[in-house]
Amino acid sequence: EKGNYRHFMQKEIFEQPTVVGQTLGSYLRQSDGTVALPQFDFDLSSVKRITIVACGTSFYAGMVAKYWFEQFARVPVDIDVASEFRYRDPVLEDGGLALFISQSGETADTLAALRHCKEAGQTIAVVVNVPTSSMAREADLLLPTHAGPEIGVASTKAFTCQLAVLAALAANMAVKKGHMDRAEEQEVVRHLFEAPACLNAALGHDEDIEAMAPLIAPARDVLYLGRGPDYPLALEGALKLKEISYIHAEGYASGEMKHGPIALIDEDVPVIVLAPSGPLFEKTVSNMEEVRARGGQIVLISDAEGLAAAGEGCLATIEMPSVHPLIAPLVYAVPVQLLAYHVACVKGTDVDQPRNLAKSVTVE
Ligand code: M6R
Repeated sequence: EKGNYRHFMQKEIFEQPTVVGQTLGSYLRQSDGTVALPQFDFDLSSVKRITIVACGTSFYAGMVAKYWFEQFARVPVDIDVASEFRYRDPVLEDGGLALFISQSGETADTLAALRHCKEAGQTIAVVVNVPTSSMAREADLLLPTHAGPEIGVASTKAFTCQLAVLAALAANMAVKKGHMDRAEEQEVVRHLFEAPACLNAALGHDEDIEAMAPLIAPARDVLYLGRGPDYPLALEGALKLKEISYIHAEGYASGEMKHGPIALIDEDVPVIVLAPSGPLFEKTVSNMEEVRARGGQIVLISDAEGLAAAGEGCLATIEMPSVHPLIAPLVYAVPVQLLAYHVACVKGTDVDQPRNLAKSVTVE
């Protein structure tokens, strides 16, 4: 079933242009440039607050979505990991939308949080990859991802498909709430439809990433930095590396570096910087310079423009296509997935079945 691929994870990384395209195709109409969600009996324009709950990689998809819900739909968003949410007696106001994100639809903590919110009278929306799962069955608003079965324990294609669905949901809510007009909606739809080709272009750098993986494999610690919607991508990059290569890695918001973690920097700690050119680029680069001034070894992931401006003197650079900021989190998922994958291959770990981990965490 792996075809020509060495691992399921590798196959699933390379499936992303196709499955993200399929997922987008079921939420967006190319003909008139509109977002069309599945039919449901709930008025999105009435949502006053969104509570997002998930675990692991699905939680990071939720963190990206928080930017979109706030930016497009102007709705405040609370987000928490399910294991914390359940035990902190959260305040859930009437008319709230509780949004659960899960590949498997069976994660025990997320499912328990869903049931708690249901009892508290929230409308339950679920972004899930397994349409027959418990979460899918218990949802008021079911938003399937069309990633197909994900076998590798490290989640890859489910993540980018979750982002595709969440972007569509945020845009649709923005339209319903009157914060996005027809032209803006068409613009968002057009940019989202650019994602599969941009994912393909990102995958085109697989060999460059494979070639630089031996530089990272000996590290004991690795830091990932990003800003705005690329901050959750830094967290996701660190999680991927930890999971499959067993290298200690942390993701930080770039601006937090000087509040502590910069003390860790020396020439043995590679720092992976996610910085698409755009409004936050300069800020991230100045944080990167702070790291470099302390002997830090930088791997800069950016587009041609960003690499021309700041790529000099880096340990390595990874070039991404130039993309609209909306789809940058989808596209920048690819290099962090591939980097973790190739580092794990260099180290010879079990990529698809990493130690101590299960694909679906059905115990609390
Ligand atoms: O099935 P779910 O999306 O609910 O799973 C959540 C996490 O267990 C999952 O994302 C986990 O963090 C992955 N192994 C990450 O690669």
